[in-house]
Amino acid sequence: MNDRVPVLEFRHVHTHYGPVHILKDVSMQIYPGELVCLLGGNASGKTTTLKTILGMVVPSSGDVLVDGEVMTGRPTADVVMRGISMVPENRRLFKRMTVKENLEIGAYLRDDDEIDQDMEKVFEMFPRVKERLGQKAGTLSGGEQQMVAVGRALMSRPKLLLMDEPSMGLAPILVQQNFDIIEQINDAGMTVFMVEQNANMALSIADRGYVLQTGQIVLEDTAENLLANEDLRRAYLGQAD
Ligand SMILES: Nc1ncnc2c1ncn2[C@@H]1O[C@H](COP(=O)(O)OP(=O)(O)OP(=O)(O)O)[C@@H](O)[C@H]1O
Ligand SMILES: [Mg+2]
Repeated sequence: MNDRVPVLEFRHVHTHYGPVHILKDVSMQIYPGELVCLLGGNASGKTTTLKTILGMVVPSSGDVLVDGEVMTGRPTADVVMRGISMVPENRRLFKRMTVKENLEIGAYLRDDDEIDQDMEKVFEMFPRVKERLGQKAGTLSGGEQQMVAVGRALMSRPKLLLMDEPSMGLAPILVQQNFDIIEQINDAGMTVFMVEQNANMALSIADRGYVLQTGQIVLEDTAENLLANEDLRRAYLGQAD
């Protein structure tokens, strides 16, 4: 695996919000085709990690690489153009816009003629989305909003899909469906980097995982080993939130 170029790499990344040191010497690599999860409690720096990938937070030192190229300090649009797309925390749909408009926004940086074709693929994955095309996104149920948020991210034809707590706020049955869909997207060849507090569920579909604690990677291993790790079980697994 190590002779391949990672889709995404962090090299000794540190970030600050003002004087507050958040990410501390974070290094990680995500290889093509992998499904990797980032676990950690509240305020450990998970969302900050995703924002750093997208250039919304700029490292105070260290580098972010996409396909082996240093992207540190580059604008978010450049990172999106390289094929990185995010399903944000709490979905963040444009609530007053229709479902169709939300999907179209996902493709706004594209100028090819296969956009309609990709929208059809989203409908195949989520027939419910097709039924609701004209509805204002803010009036959708939580589960439907999650489908549109995933659809919107896929509309940019990413090579790396970032997901921030996809199961947050969903009923248990939808959480299961949601993880099934993430697994399906990954099986179709998409590289996925997923932030989750639901460690058991995340590790059940992931290849590997990193564990973040107050901004530091304290553990990294295969999903299988992490599931069997006693320290991790005590700290995170089975935790209700
Ligand atoms: N824009 C900001 N300005 C100042 N501090 C911030 C900002 N964004 C996040 N923080 C702080 O950085 C720390 C890490 O936040 P982050 O959102 O990355 O955590 P998280 O692991 O995603 O947490 P959660 O599980 O609650 O979503 C927190 O203490 C948070 O208050
Ligand atoms: Mg977060």
